[in-house]
Amino acid sequence: MEHNYTDLMTKDQKLIEAYLAHAFDDSAYYGDLREAIEYSLLSGGKRIRPILTLESCVLCGGSKEDALAFASGVEMVHTYSLIHDDLPAMDNDDLRRGRPTNHVVYGEATAILTGDALLTAAFGQLAKAELPADRIVAAVRCLAQNAGAAGMVGGQVLDMAGEGRALTRQELEQLQLLKTGALISAAAELGCIAAGGTMEQRGKLHEYAMAIGLAFQIRDDMLDVTSTDQELGKPVGSDKNNEKTTFVSLLGLERCAELVEKLTEKAVDSLNGFEDPQFHVWLARLLAKRNK
Ligand code: IPE
Ligand code: IPE
Ligand code: MG
Ligand code: MG
Ligand code: MG
Repeated sequence: MEHNYTDLMTKDQKLIEAYLAHAFDDSAYYGDLREAIEYSLLSGGKRIRPILTLESCVLCGGSKEDALAFASGVEMVHTYSLIHDDLPAMDNDDLRRGRPTNHVVYGEATAILTGDALLTAAFGQLAKAELPADRIVAAVRCLAQNAGAAGMVGGQVLDMAGEGRALTRQELEQLQLLKTGALISAAAELGCIAAGGTMEQRGKLHEYAMAIGLAFQIRDDMLDVTSTDQELGKPVGSDKNNEKTTFVSLLGLERCAELVEKLTEKAVDSLNGFEDPQFHVWLARLLAKRNK
């Protein structure tokens, strides 16, 4: 069957946008917290992670609706991580998703608290899903593991500790798998969990997501050198300014491109055994060539 995956992706994005637009409707907020949350959350990210959650749920036999609350939780964790990543104490960047960063508009204290609120709300979203309790518990465990000290936060710690120091390729790969691969893996695994998929399916999605996650971060490092602020919606040259070791600084652009290709095909191979993994295949190859 012929599919138009671009349309499918746009539809998924709209589903996610519509859900996120109301996620903070029904509580009391102090000061400008709600405005600051929605400033970053509803500012046009690519929504790759929540799309992966929805489509991984479908891949494992569930529906998109089953996975929507989990997907929104993943995007909230991701958005919090970007707000904190941009802070003066970390990458000190002033542009994100094409707009001034959260701390530039609302101040550092509010930006930190906006991240705190998003991270907390993410787990609230998981708990809210209308799914069997055992799936919710599994999702909470998976997201906590992958977003926390043993996952994304751990990767960010290594990233900061590595500034001004030459990392080996092995160190850099570990760092990038943690800071970027882990949350992308959680995104895919949460889709499988929402569907009540098997451990075997979850394992394959984990392999797939870690490979596209590493490729995604290598591509991110490449775009930091080759793109423009306007195209990327964030400041290029940030890695060099912060004296980070990146795959580009280690291997050069050409070998990075080869490595992204190799990882993408490794990701595709991980999908063996799924009945209809064509969207995931298409997405992996799209991300390998992305320009923003
Ligand atoms: C940026 O992620 C941070 C990295 C892990 C490289 P994305 O490129 O997915 O950012 P948005 O969500 O589209 O803004
Ligand atoms: C950050 O990596 C990954 C996160 C966990 C936020 P980068 O620092 O390279 O992400 P960008 O380039 O600022 O989006
Ligand atoms: Mg960073
Ligand atoms: Mg950064
Ligand atoms: Mg980057």
